[in-house]
Amino acid sequence: MQYDLTDNITSNTPNGSAIFGVFSDKSTKELEKSLSSLDVAKIKETIKKSSFEGKINQSLCVYETSNKKLDKIYLIGLGEKNKYNEKKFLKSINSFSKICKTENIKNIYLGVSSFINDKFSIDWAIRNISIHINGIDYHYDKTKNKTKNKNNYKVSKLFFVFDSIKKNYKQDIKKYFSQGEAIANGIKLAKNLGDLPSNICTPTYLAKTATSLGKTNKNLNIKIHDEKEMKKMGMNCLLSVGNGSDEPSKLITINYSGGAKNEKPIVLVGKGITFDTGGISIKPSNGMDEMKYDMCGAASVIGTMKSISELNLKINVVAIVASAENMPSGSATNPGDVVTTMSGQTVEILNTDAEGRLVLCDALTYSLKFKPKHIIDVATLTGAVLVALGKVASGVLSNDEELTEKLKNSSNISHDYIWELPMWEEFQSELDSNFADIANIGKRYAGTITAACFLSRFTENYSWAHLDIAGTAWNEGANKGGTGRPVSLLTHFLLEHAKSL
Ligand code: BES
Ligand code: MN
Ligand code: ZN
Repeated sequence: MQYDLTDNITSNTPNGSAIFGVFSDKSTKELEKSLSSLDVAKIKETIKKSSFEGKINQSLCVYETSNKKLDKIYLIGLGEKNKYNEKKFLKSINSFSKICKTENIKNIYLGVSSFINDKFSIDWAIRNISIHINGIDYHYDKTKNKTKNKNNYKVSKLFFVFDSIKKNYKQDIKKYFSQGEAIANGIKLAKNLGDLPSNICTPTYLAKTATSLGKTNKNLNIKIHDEKEMKKMGMNCLLSVGNGSDEPSKLITINYSGGAKNEKPIVLVGKGITFDTGGISIKPSNGMDEMKYDMCGAASVIGTMKSISELNLKINVVAIVASAENMPSGSATNPGDVVTTMSGQTVEILNTDAEGRLVLCDALTYSLKFKPKHIIDVATLTGAVLVALGKVASGVLSNDEELTEKLKNSSNISHDYIWELPMWEEFQSELDSNFADIANIGKRYAGTITAACFLSRFTENYSWAHLDIAGTAWNEGANKGGTGRPVSLLTHFLLEHAKSL
């Protein structure tokens, strides 16, 4: 997307609308730096006549300004000045992005200084403005009538309006705006993969998506393992999940080598169940359609690879997607069946609906061959994480405190929230089995923790964290759709990692 800096809306720029933030004190001091006194007077008068109180989620439109370049001026409520913080800033840019879309504003003059204060840096603010503005045009239309559902709103140009442009602004804005753009592109890819129905988004489709992503950057290398090759590698546990489906399972590896040859990679592992019926332990039919989203872990790691390759980060990252469809049929795995994993450990599959961990365990074992610095798996793994953390935070469970701290730090920066659950050894005995080394389910309680305990058996000597995104990967109700989470968290984590090298 095009953008520029300006300290003068009357300069040689196209027509558009201006957007400023206003606190609940209704002070127009910030606006006065960029607008004529005539327009400021007009704004003051309009505020007076309106019910606008400068509250969060409030906005006001001022028409007919004296500035020929401005169609309209929008004011966005920022709430109380002394309570303004990162969260309120994010809410306000969410409001202004929505206004831009509903009002079809092509050229935006954004009064940046009116939205920022000393509680956060301008760099962070620019990156987040960029994530929002560049995300506006996400729109699902693959399976809709394209002439009827035309929605091609896109911002033409965004002008950052400063009262005075400091020397390093241009460089900084370029850097942070493009970070936001790359993150937005990763999020949009993840949302789209999530939203596609399972009759389109199959394991083969995910593999094709990875292959075409691979063509966009010379540092990307893609390898697709089919069932025959997986069988050879001993991935019986992963394969047992796809047994009941006509769709062939795939193991997708996206290798990004932007760093030094000898630098250990970060490995991201994504759960890619393109539809989860539960298998023979079949799920209730109510709301089962949402199980098309059971590949959102995979979508988020593919999206993250898109983001980091657009950013050309100088690090090594490998994404591994374990993809299968979980169906009941005559060839499906039965409860009580025992399979031998790639690691050699055997698993008693007591419940075929606990399939995510079955595909992940072999992918985790496979990931060790890359001698990773850290392994992070991402999965819509348990309904229990919704009970614990709702739709606000993803669960994080890890065997490495330092890695957890780094992820929490990235969560704070990105506002793509995670919350830690304990993984003490007291939970491990839940997985004891009379017929195999491990059972694939625990008992009634702490389902998110016992699922992570299962995974921990496959990463024992490595720094590993597990993100349970079953609550955060998609929205329900009127806003039903993929969220693209946790692409932002993961990309911020990798940006920080790149800085630390
Ligand atoms: N994909 C589901 C988890 C899920 C449930 C995600 C609801 C989003 C919303 C997973 O494969 C599953 O079925 N997990 C079971 C595990 C149980 C059988 C131990 C669950 O959470 O009920
Ligand atoms: Mn399941
Ligand atoms: Zn599942």
